[in-house]
Amino acid sequence: MENVYLDNSATTKVDERVIDEMLPYFRTYYGNASSLHSFGRDASNALASSRQRVAEIINARNDEVIFTAGGTESDNIAILGVAKALREKGDHIITSSIEHPAVLETCESLERSGFEVTYLPVDDKGMISLRDLEDSLCERTILVTVMHANNEIGTIQPIREIGKMAHEHGALFHTDAVQSLGKLPIDVQRDNIDLLSISGHKLHGPKGIGALFIKDGTPIKPIIYGGGHERGLRSSTENIPGIVGLGKACDISKRDLEKDIRYISGLRDKLIKGIFDEIPKVRLNGHPEKRLCNNVNMSFEAVEGEALVLALDRAGIASSTGSACSSKKSKASHVLLAIGLREVTAYGSLRLSLSRMNTVEEIDYVLEKLPDIMSKLRYMSPLWMEE
Ligand SMILES: Cc1ncc(COP(=O)(O)O)c(C=O)c1O
Repeated sequence: MENVYLDNSATTKVDERVIDEMLPYFRTYYGNASSLHSFGRDASNALASSRQRVAEIINARNDEVIFTAGGTESDNIAILGVAKALREKGDHIITSSIEHPAVLETCESLERSGFEVTYLPVDDKGMISLRDLEDSLCERTILVTVMHANNEIGTIQPIREIGKMAHEHGALFHTDAVQSLGKLPIDVQRDNIDLLSISGHKLHGPKGIGALFIKDGTPIKPIIYGGGHERGLRSSTENIPGIVGLGKACDISKRDLEKDIRYISGLRDKLIKGIFDEIPKVRLNGHPEKRLCNNVNMSFEAVEGEALVLALDRAGIASSTGSACSSKKSKASHVLLAIGLREVTAYGSLRLSLSRMNTVEEIDYVLEKLPDIMSKLRYMSPLWMEE
């Protein structure tokens, strides 16, 4: 079997239906959405209907969604924009220690300009404690930003409770839903969310497109200046093909959500069980139940994660150590260290992330190859001691 793609948390294959819907916006309807002629109107109509599709999947109003260049930009606009608007009110922000760098680095930049940031620790399954959050909230807290689901270990945070607690203390709540959209139901009203980040390429949409939900009335200032597009918060000519693609991807995900979750978690559970059955000295990282339907993250004793990824690649299986964003840096994953793994264990971790495009046959193939690859790597490892 060739090309088993199990790196869907890094990025996903674009759905053919998404491509089909995007193509006319390169070939025929290539106008600028701000232009007054018919080309412009075609583009602005597409912009409006895609905005509606994105709003619908999270139960927002159309005018509460702005398009961005991806998850990173959405996180930056949300955190820096709120910090800028509320600087006079308070200078304290709360986040978690296992956020994606798009949030962590943004918070660190605010620390350098005088803000105080609390990084909530997580337990051994990757969950923050609501008690810690309660203890950290104070009069100066303007924003709580905690991700919905983690990109490395898949742990799902109790966002509804986090949002409620933030609001009780007069703070806003932002969540990075880049990994959870299309894999978990999201309702910004029910879940007490003021700002929510989305990325197209994680749900079978195109790369370089994202969205930010900003609840009506939320204080926020621009961090990008120009022609005043997207309510003045994200100036730049709209990427209409990308926006159309994101809209279609949301539409498909919304319609198939329950079916997808059931199907993908079946594959995930088969993979986890198969690995435990066939390979000794293995641990599952992340929460056993409160985890994304598509996430398998495991540590294998005495094996180096990168060697494993390369060996799997030779067998036609695409996987990842930790997260793709940090996989080129030879540092142990901050997420795996935060859940208490020793550095040596963190280095021996593998992430297999699934999507609705994977098949049972592919999982069988991985379970056929992986034990053999593991035995060979362990046989060569000076750290391996068979009992
Ligand atoms: C949780 C999370 N947030 C943000 C991002 C960044 O998204 P983008 O690649 O669209 O900038 C990623 C991408 O890996 C992610 O996993």
